[in-house]
Amino acid sequence: MGFLSMGQPCFLRQAKISGQRYNPQILCFLRYLCVLRFMVLPLLLFCGEIETMKAILAEAYGGPEVLTVEDVPVPQVGPHGVLVQVRAVSVNPIDWKLRQGSLKALRDYVFPVIWGSDLSGEVVETGGAVTLFKPGDEVYGFKDGNVAKTFRGTYAEYVAIPEKSLAKKPANLSFEEAASVPAAALTAWQALLKKGRLKPGQRVLVHAGAGGVGIFAVQIAKTFGAYVAATAGAHNQQFLRELGADLAIDYEHERFSERVSGCDVVLDGVGSGVWRDSLSVLKLGGRLISLVPSAPTDAAGRAGFVTTVAARLAAAKINAALRGRRFAPVFVKPRGGDLEKIGALLEAGKIRTVIDRVFPLEQIGEAHRLSEAGHVRGKIVLKVS
Ligand SMILES: NC(=O)c1ccc[n+]([C@@H]2O[C@H](COP(=O)([O-])OP(=O)(O)OC[C@H]3O[C@@H](n4cnc5c(N)ncnc54)[C@H](OP(=O)(O)O)[C@@H]3O)[C@@H](O)[C@H]2O)c1
Repeated sequence: MGFLSMGQPCFLRQAKISGQRYNPQILCFLRYLCVLRFMVLPLLLFCGEIETMKAILAEAYGGPEVLTVEDVPVPQVGPHGVLVQVRAVSVNPIDWKLRQGSLKALRDYVFPVIWGSDLSGEVVETGGAVTLFKPGDEVYGFKDGNVAKTFRGTYAEYVAIPEKSLAKKPANLSFEEAASVPAAALTAWQALLKKGRLKPGQRVLVHAGAGGVGIFAVQIAKTFGAYVAATAGAHNQQFLRELGADLAIDYEHERFSERVSGCDVVLDGVGSGVWRDSLSVLKLGGRLISLVPSAPTDAAGRAGFVTTVAARLAAAKINAALRGRRFAPVFVKPRGGDLEKIGALLEAGKIRTVIDRVFPLEQIGEAHRLSEAGHVRGKIVLKVS
């Protein structure tokens, strides 16, 4: 059971302090005032007056060592919020990019932060305006780290999440399998079908087809009737074919631009190294959908950073347009509606998830290191309870 053996909170969503009840706003106010955080909360936690949970907290940007297991208050839900008892979460590259502070010029978080965006679990409480879920429902979802500087992500025993970011867990998936799906599959779905406008019979090239996004992109594109080429290292060629790729390309020994051409859509989850050649394999009017629009890594001030990113995106669009192609960056959105459609494909057995490794939540540092190495096959999952 490890650190997950704590008792169930009673889900009285108001904290008791010396016999009195305080509303959620007051509790939030207390939590986020820095000075009070170090004085009042520890006292209340020590006295056992607030329901607590285990969470992976980061007190600063840095390496995996900044992630520590801590006791923190169970979050409150707002009117449209759902409190989920988390059973499993997954690791996405964005988690360690945020942890490192690589994107801090775009959004500088207020610490402490709980990272993590994917979850699966059971609903234990719903806000007054929630209509889609009720306690006991098994759900999975994607919590967007882009909305609040005081991010409380999913690396925790309980997570408050907007109902629109959730969907019912596919019945044929375990909690670990379900947690591996949301961010990666939503990205593939939104990139191919919404930005890429992929149609049956079209040709698509999926870079990094063996990674988290790639495994779903290859399968979704096949399900929608496309011809699919995908890139991966030599050891993943057979794996790509098992996922359904019509053409597996070994990026370690082959130039993809010599193996495939006339594509309607290219999904780029690799970045700068493949950008230029990707334009050349697109047919006229084809779309290059980028998951990793090149961004400066230095934090030269927010305005400068944003301007530089905007300038690079504009340059990429102009460059593609001059060659008669389109360039479109994708930023995944937490849409429960899309997740429901993905869930239907999973339940029908038309697509599947692939889990590389499952860690206990306490081994979050190990899991981040593995993801950072860049060669995960499918997804890394963390078991919470
Ligand atoms: N914009 C967005 O909203 C959004 C959303 C999700 C992800 N992303 C970004 O998209 C990228 C991919 O995400 P992910 O979750 O799929 O990452 P991931 O799971 O960590 O990707 C790992 C895979 O990348 C493959 N790979 C590494 N170098 C490659 C290369 N040069 N050519 C082809 N394949 C290569 C590896 O295959 P081998 O082992 O065979 O090398 C491995 O299977 C990340 O940078 C992530 O941050 C962006």
